[in-house]
Order: sequence, then C-alpha cells, then structure tokens
Amino acid sequence: MADEDLQLENLAGVGPITKTRLEEKGIYTVLDLAYIGASEVAEAANLDLSKAIEMCNNARKKLVDLGILENDFVSADQLYKKRLEIDRISTGSSNLDDLLGGGIETGALTEFYGEFGSGKTQICHCLCVMAQFPKEQGGLNASSIYVDTENTFRPERLAGVAEIRGLDPDVALRRVTVAKAYNSAHQELIVRELGRVIKEKSARLVIIDSAVAHYRAEFLGRATLADRQQRINRFMHHLLRMSEVYECAVVMTNQVQSAPDVIFGDPTRPVGGHVLGHTSTYRIYLRKASKNRIAKMVDSPSHPERETVFVMNERGVDDPGEDSPVTQ
Ligand code: GTP
Ligand code: MG
Repeated sequence: MADEDLQLENLAGVGPITKTRLEEKGIYTVLDLAYIGASEVAEAANLDLSKAIEMCNNARKKLVDLGILENDFVSADQLYKKRLEIDRISTGSSNLDDLLGGGIETGALTEFYGEFGSGKTQICHCLCVMAQFPKEQGGLNASSIYVDTENTFRPERLAGVAEIRGLDPDVALRRVTVAKAYNSAHQELIVRELGRVIKEKSARLVIIDSAVAHYRAEFLGRATLADRQQRINRFMHHLLRMSEVYECAVVMTNQVQSAPDVIFGDPTRPVGGHVLGHTSTYRIYLRKASKNRIAKMVDSPSHPERETVFVMNERGVDDPGEDSPVTQ
C-alpha cells in the first residue's frame, strides 16, 4: 500500500480547505476518515452531513479497493480463512491466552473489567512487553501505545517484566509510547490522534487504561447520564473502528460499580453498562480469589463462557505455580 493512496487530497471530494480543517481535528489520512463517524467529520470540517457521509463512504470504498477493509458482502469461508490468520498477542499467562482463544486478538476491542487490584493495569503492562516478542514466542515484534488516564503507568514495572522475560529493558521501554489523558476531552483528542501515531510507530497494540474513569468523574448525577453515555458510546466506536482499520489489538480497562438491583449472584457491573457491552468484541471479568485472580469470558461472539486462573508476579501476568495453589 503506497502512502499517497491514503492521503486526504487524493480522495474525491476533499479540497485543500476541507483537508486543512480535517487535519486540525486530527484526521490526517483516509484511514482516519474511515474510522471516525460521518457526523463527527461533518462537525470537524464544517460540512453538510450528506457531504460528510459521501466522503466517509468514499474512504471506506478506497480501503476496500486497497484490501484493507472487507467488502460489504463476503463469503463465510473467506471470513473463516481470514480469522485463522488473525494475529494475536500473548497475555503472559497461557491460562488467560486459552480463555481468549490464543491471546488478545488484533482487529478487535478487548475489555478487561473488575474491581480495584484485580489486575487490569498489570495485564496492560505485561501485554506491552509480550507484544515485542517474535510471533513464535507470543508477540508480534511490535511496539505499543499506552493511554494512561489514571496515572498508573509505571515504566519501572514494564522494565522489570521485560528484563525477567529476557528482553533488554531499555529497548523494551523505547517501544512503548505513553500518552497521559487529563480529562475526557483530552482523552478523546488523544484517540483522534492515535491513527497517526500507530502508523508512525508501527504499533500493533493500543491500551486505554482506563476508558471510563474520566467520564465517571466528570459526569455526575442523573441529568448528565444521557450525555455521558453518548460520549462513551462515540469513544468506544472510535476504538473499535480503529482496531479494524489499523489491524491492531485495542485493549481497554473498565471499573465495576455495584448494581443494587442484583439479589442473587455477583452484584457488580461494568461502568457504562450496555453501551460498552455491545461495543467491545470481547469482555473479560476479573476478580480476586486469595492469592490468585479469576478471569471469566463474559461476552464473546465465539468463546464459551468460562473461567480461568492467573497470578501476578515479577513476570507480570503468569500462570499459577506450585507456590500459588489454585483457589476459588
Ligand atoms: P484499579 O486500577 O485500582 O481498578 O486496579 P487494577 O485492576 O488495575 O489493579 P492492578 O493491575 O494495578 O493490580 C494491583 C495488584 O497487582 C496489586 O495488588 C498486587 O497484588 C499486584 N502487583 C502489582 N505490582 C506487582 C509487582 O511488581 N509484583 C507482584 N508480585 N505483584 C504486583
Ligand atoms: Mg488500574
């Protein structure tokens, strides 16, 4: 794929003024146009919605022609072959990888949710290390982008995990790009710019830890609920489309809130509720159990709903050893 194929000025309907306006809003290439929704493009470039829809459709068509996106109608066996070739990143724990059908999938959005200390941030750190290994060792020989919204990214933890797993920690740190998001608007801006950075760094993994904390803190009370859900919804769809267009694995974390209406079973629910549930391709619920952590595949188009056990140690995320008996 030649880079000029993806330049905005080579797309029908994009003149120099529109191009400048789009770039000002972080839309630099045809890839970005294809993953940012038409209504947002209309807003960004001050265009009629119908014109923006046409532009986004042109972008999509171009990506289909270039073989980056699927045709609208495609046979199931073609899809099946394509699914067998999907690249995956190991989490560091073979139990967790098995639960995920072989690791975190590229071209998909994977959500880990659970209470504090359940291991969400540790999984994110470990994935950034694992992504750097060659394919035969569970990685994609790739760099990662880490969007840190809770100020919990720790380079020393990353370096420690890299070293014990046999990577040069200095090299490993250079292959992870970190963006700190200070509020929800900033977080949205960062995600808009992600496309450019993914290309620049040849990243195959994007982490958003956590996706909803800012929204939760900023939108208080019932009156703001609809607005909050709409913003989260838009944000999540960005992530999902981005994972497809850039063929990278997008991993996001989410907290849980208690659901007072639940009498039987676990009274916790992920923040954001249904909006998030329907957007993530895979959802994994994490909970603490003595020294171990239990991961449950909650929502998946292809995996059975089941549980597995993993631990956190100096290797980041790992399988339980003899010194950490499986408890539940
Ligand atoms: P919140 O962000 O607070 O919602 O929690 P989280 O799910 O992101 O928790 P996180 O992944 O930060 O897990 C924290 C837990 O990981 C700690 O309670 C420790 O048990 C474990 N942990 C963190 N760092 C280390 C480490 O260096 N070594 C070991 N052995 N365990 C660690
Ligand atoms: Mg965390």
